[in-house]
Amino acid sequence: MGAQVHGTQEFNKAKRAEIKFSDEAMNTVNIIISRYPQGKQKSALLPVLHVAQAEFGGWLSPEVMDYVAEILKIKPIEVFEVASFYTMYNLKPVGKCVLEVCQTSSCWLNGAEDIVKYIEKKLNIKVGETTKDGMFTLKVAECLGSCGTAPMLQCGASFHENLTYQKVDTIIDEYKTSNKLRSYTDLDYKNTL
Ligand code: FES
Repeated sequence: MGAQVHGTQEFNKAKRAEIKFSDEAMNTVNIIISRYPQGKQKSALLPVLHVAQAEFGGWLSPEVMDYVAEILKIKPIEVFEVASFYTMYNLKPVGKCVLEVCQTSSCWLNGAEDIVKYIEKKLNIKVGETTKDGMFTLKVAECLGSCGTAPMLQCGASFHENLTYQKVDTIIDEYKTSNKLRSYTDLDYKNTL
């Protein structure tokens, strides 16, 4: 058992060694960190996680979170606590389009539950799952700040509001046709500088 655990640690270390920001991403990370006083680099965690998610395939693996912890000189658990709290970070691989349906009061009262069920049936997946073709991941989120136009969903940088089944059909068809990345990885993190 001990040897197995040790073997796993070695494997994780090897995987971790492969993870490195590109020069451009590292430059962005350094600019973000420089916004905060010396010793307070932990404050840069949220935007740095966005850069990491965009850089490493749209999700934050344990090795990527360890890497971010190392850069910010904080404990890996501190990174995990934040990354697992916010729905905008993915802790497992996701599809090209991450559909996040708001399920909080206003959206819930206006049929969010039915919209989720409709998408589940249409895409043949459950919440948290990705379609076999790797195109769509379905998630639910807490209030996304568009309560007046409920029910709504977010996909990457786009909000889709006043949802109906027909609107959902149109969104999914458009996304399928364009076949582009529309998860958080489509956010241009340089815009956050
Ligand atoms: S309740 Fe859905 S956006 Fe606020």
